[in-house]
Amino acid sequence: MIRIAPSLLAADFGHLAKQISEAEQGGADWIHLDVMDGHFVPNITFGPPLVRSVRKYTKLPLDVHLMIEDADKFIAPFRAAGADIITVHQESCLHLYRTIQAIKESGSKAGVVLNPATPVDTLKSIIEEIDLVLIMTVEPGFGGQQFIQSTLQKIQEMREMINLSKKEILLEVDGGIDRDTAADVIDAGANVLVAGTSIFKADSIQAAISSLRTATKKRTQQ
Ligand code: DX5
Ligand code: ZN
Repeated sequence: MIRIAPSLLAADFGHLAKQISEAEQGGADWIHLDVMDGHFVPNITFGPPLVRSVRKYTKLPLDVHLMIEDADKFIAPFRAAGADIITVHQESCLHLYRTIQAIKESGSKAGVVLNPATPVDTLKSIIEEIDLVLIMTVEPGFGGQQFIQSTLQKIQEMREMINLSKKEILLEVDGGIDRDTAADVIDAGANVLVAGTSIFKADSIQAAISSLRTATKKRTQQ
């Protein structure tokens, strides 16, 4: 099963509730929320209050992608705001094992994110502890960037590591995902697709999700 997680970063924040409901009606599986602090990445977005508001408007799982320094400090507030999945960057967590344990103890699913230049091997000793790996397919910080082709190899390597672990670990991708790149990342082994621009900047949110879904189905049927 391929899950589609629309990223609110590309949504119209003035009409968030409406756009979330359109995404839900279009068949979104999760809602992806990008938290940026202006330090780990050169952009600032939002914090727990926005997540809390979104929680009121959807029952879909909230996938909270923390692009921040000092993630440990914010696990409890994001969980309290309604996060179902909290992902932290390998590059920003000095004590990754401790951070993952804290996320799991909070009651949230725990995921680790790898930037395009971070090798898959960095998760070898910790893979069995996590529920999800997120491979960035662009540099984090902004929506609307071009998919980095060399990340396909990393997705394949990560898929092999996950299969070897014999655990049910989701493999998510984030950045530059549209109908064309969706097919390639699925072939490489991804099963959760984050998409911002290709969904929220389209004329119809629902039509964009269903055309992404069609692209994924064609691939999984082959
Ligand atoms: C980038 C974010 C992404 C972003 C993807 O740092 O992590 O979730 O919203 O946007 P698109 O789909 O436009 O590349
Ligand atoms: Zn993201």
